[in-house]
Amino acid sequence: MSRKKLLMGNWKMNNTVEETLQFASKVNESSLVKDAESKGVILAIAPTYLSLQALKQNIKGVYVSAQDCHYAKSGAYTSSVSVDMLKEIGVNWSIIGHSEKRQYEAESDFSCNRKIRALLKASCKAVYCVGESLKEYEEGITKDIILSQVTVGLQNISCEDAKNIIIAYEPVWSIGTGKNASSEIAQDICCYIRSIVEKIFNKEVASEMLILYGGSVKPENIHNYLTCPDVDGALVGGASLKVESFKALVENI
Ligand code: PGA
Repeated sequence: MSRKKLLMGNWKMNNTVEETLQFASKVNESSLVKDAESKGVILAIAPTYLSLQALKQNIKGVYVSAQDCHYAKSGAYTSSVSVDMLKEIGVNWSIIGHSEKRQYEAESDFSCNRKIRALLKASCKAVYCVGESLKEYEEGITKDIILSQVTVGLQNISCEDAKNIIIAYEPVWSIGTGKNASSEIAQDICCYIRSIVEKIFNKEVASEMLILYGGSVKPENIHNYLTCPDVDGALVGGASLKVESFKALVENI
């Protein structure tokens, strides 16, 4: 089964609306989207909430994703944005469970599950992030952590809805640190995630699901990951912020 590749930029709290518009026009003027297409690579970018609409309206050939969403339709949830609000501006994707949300805002597997189900109910894509901390890695319990994150995060979801899930394996110790995991680790864990997905859903869902690696992915190392059989792409922070390095990532896939 041949899966497409996905290169997804997670801008975190970077790039103003003005910088987002400049990024969009540089992408539109370049051959970036065409180059990606010719390699079978889908492109997506997750800017801040503030820049979502500007990016959505101005960039061509790139999916636009939120970095989070709320599970409720509306209500007294200060600072949150619902799936319907995202859909209203044409945004049908959201990252869920990024380790920075888990670390700084106590996001749990359980709340991730509620958010993922809200997205799937609205036929949107959920990019679910999982990954162990440095301490867990050193204790050798990576697979236990991944098992519970995937199992709880993806509970009570039908096989049909599961087709809208993408998983990103991002070891916390590799995010923004320059200490990227080896391609052997990425392959081992992405393959393990696929086996869990098969147990939760079925073989077809598992073989179709895109599973990404993320954590200090750069133009110099992206190729190593994308040649692993179970790694279907990359979730990239720092190296996705500027068109030049985003382009270099595509070139080096
Ligand atoms: P990084 O971030 O590429 O800057 O390490 C990755 C991520 O957090 O998704």
